[in-house]
Amino acid sequence: MTLMRATSSVEETKRAGRELASLLTPGDIILLTGPLGAGKTAFTQGLAVGLGVSDRVTSPTFTLVRQHQCANRQGIAVLHHADVYRTNSLDEIEDLALEELVEVGGVAVIEWGEMAAGLLGRTAWRITIEVVNDDERTIVVDEASVGERLAMMQGWAAQ
Ligand SMILES: Nc1ncnc2c1ncn2[C@@H]1O[C@H](COP(=O)(O)OP(=O)(O)O)[C@@H](O)[C@H]1O
Ligand SMILES: [Mg+2]
Repeated sequence: MTLMRATSSVEETKRAGRELASLLTPGDIILLTGPLGAGKTAFTQGLAVGLGVSDRVTSPTFTLVRQHQCANRQGIAVLHHADVYRTNSLDEIEDLALEELVEVGGVAVIEWGEMAAGLLGRTAWRITIEVVNDDERTIVVDEASVGERLAMMQGWAAQ
């Protein structure tokens, strides 16, 4: 079984992100994949709302990574939001030290993250947003990457 959730508007993609947020715990890293305009940032915006971020989340293109303070029940203090589209340098991505950053009570979302997978020593959630047409997307979660949260993610996918 593959974990998939279809959306037919940007709002629905944001809602998928918001609902995923409640399943996250400190230390999680999400690798988001999908073409330009797929909805990676929209998904992250929803996720940020779910984590209790109150400032605006935009693509951190020129800084590679931005931090947002969070307020939520699961004790996630910071959302680290990276977009590595403009770098081909694995060294530069490694320098972000995302694994160390999330260790102290954060989570990280990396847009164009498939490139970063090999750098991470731990399992990261792999999420791909596929473009079906102008308004429709399919959010595909690699079920092998979600570990013991598979049952909860099946509930998320069934929405
Ligand atoms: N179902 C959908 N989910 C997400 N975005 C959608 C959807 N339908 C249309 N869109 C549009 O696609 C664009 C997604 O942009 P963005 O989130 O910045 O993509 P990315 O970060 O993947 O490049 C937005 O303009 C949004 O309005
Ligand atoms: Mg983006």
